[in-house]
Amino acid sequence: MVKPVRVPDLRLMKQHHERITVLTAYDATMARILDRAGIDIILVGDSLGMVVLGYPTTLPVTLDMMIHHTAAVARGTERALVVADMPFLTYQLSTEEAMRNAGRLIKEGNAAAVKIEGGEPMVETARRLADVGVPVMGHLGLTPQSVHKFGGFRPQARDPQSASQLLLDAAALEKAGVFAIVLESIPDDVAKQVTSSIGIPTIGIGAGPHCDGQVLVSYDALGLYDGPMPPFVKQFARAADELMKGAKSYIEDVRAGRFPPAREDGR
Ligand code: KIV
Repeated sequence: MVKPVRVPDLRLMKQHHERITVLTAYDATMARILDRAGIDIILVGDSLGMVVLGYPTTLPVTLDMMIHHTAAVARGTERALVVADMPFLTYQLSTEEAMRNAGRLIKEGNAAAVKIEGGEPMVETARRLADVGVPVMGHLGLTPQSVHKFGGFRPQARDPQSASQLLLDAAALEKAGVFAIVLESIPDDVAKQVTSSIGIPTIGIGAGPHCDGQVLVSYDALGLYDGPMPPFVKQFARAADELMKGAKSYIEDVRAGRFPPAREDGR
């Protein structure tokens, strides 16, 4: 019997200096593989829009898409904590709408928690969600839903003023009841300061080695995505090469009449 990862386990992992592992998944098959490998958190990221659906940004992703894919991931997961991203403009308009939409990710998508992007402007929303029992993960630094504001997927918190603001944002999110914060594309020393200044875990992506955990988009980390990739990504497998090899062998075998073989009984 597997013991599922629960939200309170993560704070204990930080206290015990156990690094938290996070990868994204968007379907039951990938979720099953990551879960069996022992990942702690599966994030159903709105990176779905880019790596699975072929959009140039995460902005076109809808709540219904996220619910559909989150439910699939939840069906493939036994142990990992399933966290679902709230898509662009499904939580920024009002706290009521954020609560209704987060509720759908939990009730229909079977997520255990939701992730929202942004600092102080999102604090009230995070607090209301946490107060009604919806665990919330924050996301600071390069928040991809603000890609147009940033003028591209650019590293953040590189000057002292924005680094200080990020520290304030992290503290405010912790106070609001957020259970962990993703720090994306910020300098290592800023991530280190945030990590030591709050009691909840930080999960880094392009934020150096000092965070309490690390997250990568699984399609990048496992070599499934062949588009442009952020410089901090390490490819731990070359899945696309393997799939290409398999697909080519299938094509050759079918064209050469080697597959399927004749059945011995001729039926
Ligand atoms: O959408 C996503 O996959 C994410 C991770 C990159 C943290 O937000």
